[in-house]
Amino acid sequence: MQQVNLGIIGGGTVGGGVFQAVQRNGALMASRLGVCLRVAGMAVRDVHKKRAVRIPPALLTTNWLGVVRDPQVHLVVELMGGTTTARTVALTALRLGKPVVTANKALLSAHGEELFAAAQQYGANLYYEASVAGGIPIIKVLREGLIGNRITRIYGILNGTCNYILTRMKFEGADFAEVLADAQRLGYAEAEPSLDVDGHDALHKIGILASLAHGFWVNPKQIHVEGIGSITSLDIKFAGQLGYTIKQLSIVKPLERAANRGPAMDGSRVQVTVYPTLVPNDHVLASVNHVFNAVLVRGDIVGDTLYYGRGAGQDATASAVLSDLADAALDLKCGTKSRIPPFVPHERAGAVVPIGEVVSRYYLRLDVVDRPGTLARIAAILGRARIGISSVIQPEGHEGDSVPLILMIHDANHAAMGRALARINRLAVVKSPAVMIRVENFE
Ligand SMILES: NC(=O)c1ccc[n+]([C@@H]2O[C@H](COP(=O)([O-])OP(=O)(O)OC[C@H]3O[C@@H](n4cnc5c(N)ncnc54)[C@H](OP(=O)(O)O)[C@@H]3O)[C@@H](O)[C@H]2O)c1
Repeated sequence: MQQVNLGIIGGGTVGGGVFQAVQRNGALMASRLGVCLRVAGMAVRDVHKKRAVRIPPALLTTNWLGVVRDPQVHLVVELMGGTTTARTVALTALRLGKPVVTANKALLSAHGEELFAAAQQYGANLYYEASVAGGIPIIKVLREGLIGNRITRIYGILNGTCNYILTRMKFEGADFAEVLADAQRLGYAEAEPSLDVDGHDALHKIGILASLAHGFWVNPKQIHVEGIGSITSLDIKFAGQLGYTIKQLSIVKPLERAANRGPAMDGSRVQVTVYPTLVPNDHVLASVNHVFNAVLVRGDIVGDTLYYGRGAGQDATASAVLSDLADAALDLKCGTKSRIPPFVPHERAGAVVPIGEVVSRYYLRLDVVDRPGTLARIAAILGRARIGISSVIQPEGHEGDSVPLILMIHDANHAAMGRALARINRLAVVKSPAVMIRVENFE
């Protein structure tokens, strides 16, 4: 049986998990693929470090370049993280014609276009299943399962830390800071949590999905992102009373094409955003709780499809890497030409819609003086901006100088809403800046 030797760069959480998974299920994979996978070398920063997964010392080295260049290594697995050395690792391997497997969403987000161009130039593939949603094989879904569909929507809960925090805030009525501290203690959030809670981890992931679905590599700087740090237990409570759950939702939504423009593939304009969102309680994504991820993909032929699972962690991520190892090993066995490359640019003129033009419904929470005429003033500002109010709720039982006022707002674009809110915030009857959270109806 043909043997494929792996050079793994990085032996941490994911690298250790992949080593362990290859030992555990390598024989099963060999019987399915007709190819035997063998770890030939593993580069780490410190060969003497104590590791949760035991790696034979003879495999370990600090010389990643030696592993990548080793003629015995057929396939390079980049699991070191970061975007600088990892980029060099991937480019060096591709230039040698070696397929690369990576779990590194930050690397793809920053350098995806360059890496895919190099893969094409040197006739080697670059696989990245583990970079989005951990154990959920969502890249394969878009690359293969739904290849005959135009993708009309992607809604993702893509960051387990955010989802864990929002779930506990909802069920325990706890505040953000309190749950975050607990999540850090339990290992569900990093000591430096900003990449997760500010939404940038989800941004990297949704950018990859948007690129794959729409055929142009999405520039991460054009993705609008808002974190969950400003969500309060009060908003979670009011959202619940209105029949909604707050989720950190990543959205890919092409603007409707004018009917007379036909089905041409040029010039798609696509919303790619990450922000906290009110999700109706009867929608399936409202019940995705704790560290779980889920992705809803709508295709123009298939309709709605849903994928659910663990979005991170050693075993879930290793499972995704194994899937890529199988693909890359088959490339080596059968040649790349007979197979679909992992990313095929096909919409060079596509563009991300600027946030100012993104339309959605909104939940507004205002802290106002409880005095006749207050609502009329706020409504007048919204009316002048041609922004419609769909309902108004003034929860009872609040004492003191100010009271909460909740407005549910019809579809409006972000720019118009921002201008109206700036005027509302300047009213003397408004005691603190309005809280604005978008509402998704999944149409
Ligand atoms: N953890 C997850 O659940 C998860 C999920 C999906 C995707 N990912 C992605 O997977 C990648 C790896 O994440 P991880 O959690 O496994 O990270 P990690 O635990 O920090 O492991 C990183 C590994 O890379 C090694 N390394 C770093 N710099 C090196 C260098 N210059 N030369 C050689 N080795 C070097 C480290 O060596 P030492 O061990 O000696 O320090 C370590 O073994 C990242 O891109 C991450 O975004 C992670």
